[in-house]
Amino acid sequence: MISEAYIDRTVKEIFEEIEFPAAPKGLYDPLRYMISIGGKRIRPKLCILTYSIFKDDLYNEIVEPALALEVFHSFTLIHDDIMDRSPLRRGMPTVWKKWGEDTAILSGDVMNIDSYRRIAMTPERVHGKVLSLFTKTATEVCEGQQMDMDFEKLPQVPMEDYMKMIGLKTAVLLACSAKIGALIGGASDVDADFLYDYGYRLGLAFQVADDYLDAYGDEKVFGKPIGGDIVNDKKSWLITRALEKAEDREEVFEAMAMPVETEQQRTAKILAVKDIYNRLGVDDDAREEVARLTTLAMDAALKVNVNSVRMEMLRRFADSLVSRAK
Ligand code: IPE
Ligand code: IPE
Ligand code: MG
Ligand code: MG
Ligand code: MG
Repeated sequence: MISEAYIDRTVKEIFEEIEFPAAPKGLYDPLRYMISIGGKRIRPKLCILTYSIFKDDLYNEIVEPALALEVFHSFTLIHDDIMDRSPLRRGMPTVWKKWGEDTAILSGDVMNIDSYRRIAMTPERVHGKVLSLFTKTATEVCEGQQMDMDFEKLPQVPMEDYMKMIGLKTAVLLACSAKIGALIGGASDVDADFLYDYGYRLGLAFQVADDYLDAYGDEKVFGKPIGGDIVNDKKSWLITRALEKAEDREEVFEAMAMPVETEQQRTAKILAVKDIYNRLGVDDDAREEVARLTTLAMDAALKVNVNSVRMEMLRRFADSLVSRAK
């Protein structure tokens, strides 16, 4: 059986050994930088985990698809940081901050293409299924990212629309990672679909936790600036819930309309919005929502036809995401 420690070690090693072309440096250095500064690597871990549920040994066949998922994810982050004007990622300056937007666009593009080159190395047996799922997922991520930006301009969105948006921008890639691992591992289509649902619901929980940490995290641990969602008028889970809960919505809208030209103004706005969150208790609500969505994820996992030892691995993975601080 493949243990979690072995999966972690393998993921670490395959990223130490990953290779990209040397030249032109202007194109590939930012890409190498983005991959080498790490991140949690949860998508390749999830992919190899669901593979392990069905296979007793880790074969080479899973390596390039697992790498593809992380390369694709890192590409979306490079472009996301331009879109969100974010200066910090994984505790380091973002690619657009370090090299400029033009470079960040093109390095992101080549990373997207590199992820396709790698996913195309999927074994023949499930090649069609994996490629079409990956393509569908990549399209959906773009759709979710557009909705995320469109929502910045709206005063309020219904919770249902928020859930749809995070389903697209975040959850589908975790779902896709879980299903690709299962398919390559030889799972039945039915089990692969249950694992898709597991990944999707975990992805929803993961994004609500990300929104929570964006306001309540520790910048040094989280690796991203705290309060970015508030400054950018993002329709995060917290603001969406606050607007649902507030008796005086005008007070919330007033705080949201505060100027953000200077550092001082940004700090004042973050404080004002967080004061409302604290009074309404939406921080506790968010934590409860993460736990609820994680339970739903396990409900899907429990339908998969595997023994209890392997089921526990899925549970531990889910739990590790709930309690995260980064
Ligand atoms: C960040 O993803 C973007 C979201 C979907 C919230 P991660 O939190 O997985 O980022 P890294 O890869 O660990 O840096
Ligand atoms: C990012 O959502 C989702 C994707 C990159 C597809 P966020 O904008 O919340 O991610 P962070 O907080 O910058 O990592
Ligand atoms: Mg974003
Ligand atoms: Mg962002
Ligand atoms: Mg975020």
